[in-house]
Amino acid sequence: MRDVTNIVDPPEDLHICFGGGDFRKIGQKMIAVCKDKLEFASDEKVLDIGCGVGRLAFPLLEYLNESGGYEGFDTFPAGVKWCSENITPEFSNFNFKQVDIFNTTYNPYAQTKASEFIFPYEDNTFDLVLLNSVFTHMMPDDIINYLSEIDRVLNDNGRVFVTFFLINKESLELMDLGKSVHDFHKFGVFYTADPKEPMDAVGYDEQFAFNLFEKHNFKIKEVMYGNWSGIKSGNHQDIVLLTR
Ligand SMILES: C[S@@+](CC[C@H](N)C(=O)[O-])C[C@H]1O[C@@H](n2cnc3c(N)ncnc32)[C@H](O)[C@@H]1O
Repeated sequence: MRDVTNIVDPPEDLHICFGGGDFRKIGQKMIAVCKDKLEFASDEKVLDIGCGVGRLAFPLLEYLNESGGYEGFDTFPAGVKWCSENITPEFSNFNFKQVDIFNTTYNPYAQTKASEFIFPYEDNTFDLVLLNSVFTHMMPDDIINYLSEIDRVLNDNGRVFVTFFLINKESLELMDLGKSVHDFHKFGVFYTADPKEPMDAVGYDEQFAFNLFEKHNFKIKEVMYGNWSGIKSGNHQDIVLLTR
């Protein structure tokens, strides 16, 4: 196991990237799900989309060996800068890229739309793709394009860990009862908690999301519903695990 004691946590002013909570514990929990349920091995190649300030990278610093590798990209400049300066110099197989993609919350001045963005990686490069609390900040055309790009850069044995706010009969009923932490408003296939800041929290009609997975050559291995809707659960957002 590699020594990570020299790596300090990111400073508090970057916590906007993950909304607070226990940075190390939550990251470890997400990666444990990948190990337990997706047979994620220590020599695999990982793509972390919307990597923020490296919440998922931290547990991987210890887990991935020299044959494995990590690429993260994000539109939030300060998060990528911190990771590049504090992680990559010690761990050369961990790379972080800043991509200038429009997002009302994280990069409102960027010109490129997520719906048109081509990931800067070759076809069939990765074994595992992670999106933790990222599609919960993106619009329908954006996630359609990202799923198509994930299909391209993921190999034939690839797996995906992705979180959502999935809107289904049960979550709608719980919202009506005031049990959910979000009061989502419907706009076609997507829902937003705040119509004035639509990308702050975005939910998706569950069947719409499931159809998209199938269209982009993914099978649903498991859905681990989160407690955001008011159900009892160990995770906050809904975790969807996909295989080929
Ligand atoms: C709530 S944070 C989660 C960060 C990280 N995944 C984690 O678990 O700590 C959402 C992240 O998604 C990034 N993001 C939003 N839209 C994006 C896009 N179109 N492409 C890449 N990153 C995006 C934001 O900049 C932000 O860092």
